[in-house]
Amino acid sequence: MSECPYTNLLDPDLYAAGNHHHALQELRDRADAPIIKIDDPLTGVPYWAVLQRAHADEIAKNPAVFSSEKRLTVPTEYDDDTVAMQTQMLVNMDPPKHGKFRRIARNAFTPKAVESYHDTFKKYAREIIDNVADSGHCEFVTDVAAELPLMAILDLCGVPRDDRKKFFTWTNQMMFQEDEEIGGADPAAAAQEAAANIYMYAGELAKKHAEQPLTNIVGALLDGEVEDEKLTEEEFQLFFLMLIAAGNESTRSVTAHGMRLLMEHPDQLQMLVDDPGMIPGACEEMLRYNPAFVTMRRTVMEDTEVGGVAMKEGDKVLLHWHLINQDDSVFEDPMAFDITRAQRMPELSREHRAFGVGTHFCLGSHLARMELHIMFAELIPRLRNPRFEEPVKYVRDYFVNGIKEMKISFDTAA
Ligand code: HEM
Repeated sequence: MSECPYTNLLDPDLYAAGNHHHALQELRDRADAPIIKIDDPLTGVPYWAVLQRAHADEIAKNPAVFSSEKRLTVPTEYDDDTVAMQTQMLVNMDPPKHGKFRRIARNAFTPKAVESYHDTFKKYAREIIDNVADSGHCEFVTDVAAELPLMAILDLCGVPRDDRKKFFTWTNQMMFQEDEEIGGADPAAAAQEAAANIYMYAGELAKKHAEQPLTNIVGALLDGEVEDEKLTEEEFQLFFLMLIAAGNESTRSVTAHGMRLLMEHPDQLQMLVDDPGMIPGACEEMLRYNPAFVTMRRTVMEDTEVGGVAMKEGDKVLLHWHLINQDDSVFEDPMAFDITRAQRMPELSREHRAFGVGTHFCLGSHLARMELHIMFAELIPRLRNPRFEEPVKYVRDYFVNGIKEMKISFDTAA
């Protein structure tokens, strides 16, 4: 058998140095079809990688043929028991079940619902920057990027903000199992313990709701019905866990990478200092360039063809959002980070796929965008001339594009 000519996109080492964009470009240049088959020597399970946005859209909008439920969305190889348990989580469901569960939570995330939190979150952002501004330096990920997303999702769920450090640790342990520095010697055990802690926490919230009804998302989940039945205890716990994890790791990662990219492009940072009206467009470019989630899986349910490529029932397909957001038939000079892109491409927010597309389009996209706008509007005028104090440390992971540590110093604006 000839050796696979392509870089394995599911090798966590590819992402550990933070420069995978070049490997993606190389792979794109070498590809002889719009969808290519890649071997994964780490698991022995080969997969299709989709290079063009049009094909990603076709796949994500056809869940009957490309299932999220069959082998889950996270592209890791799991045993059957884990698959069965995790299919109770919204992101791992197919229609019609998916629509019934999504309905329970969606009202909490509409633009109007999210807008109602604007002033509170702005106040939080001010406090976050107040806490670091005078010292002239910080570890940007923990001290700044992680804070607002955690406070926001915990607020929405009625969790006291003092408990946020616990959730920071628990969700890191669950999400970053490939990184020994986070998961320790036995990352699977650490992840299991973290999930158990979150389930227990969810159980306590359910007890509170029984005593005095909660009017937040937790209340909506506990009162919501699917075919006249309330969620089971396990379904509720998994829903809660997914919201907490998706709601904080994601926006944190985009904030941290966004800051890094601006620091690496000081001319672009200066544009935002001079014209804060450009911040929303800049956030779209951050989302295009370094979306939080790297890739998600679909499983082929029947023999089919996409872009002239034949796929077989059972095949594994990767929607690699970073690769898709570099599609040069959609984005001019896609390898360049360029915050003025939104001016040339006014529909940039609809053109990139940072929030996915189709059936599972991100439920939290309005919330995430609002958090990004608020945070950058607060920090850009106050943390001036930011400088890296040490090399940035990236998370070793093929699912979440995280930064582990980014020590910076800055001048504090008067
Ligand atoms: C910048 C931040 C974020 C990014 C880049 C992001 C990205 C994504 C992507 C790509 C998907 C699609 C999954 C798929 O196709 O299989 C998704 C789904 C989802 N996201 Fe987000 N997300 C972000 C923030 C949030 C926030 C703040 C929440 C709030 C709780 C959230 C909740 C969800 C949920 C619940 C789903 C599953 C939706 C479904 O299956 O119907 N996300 N997200």
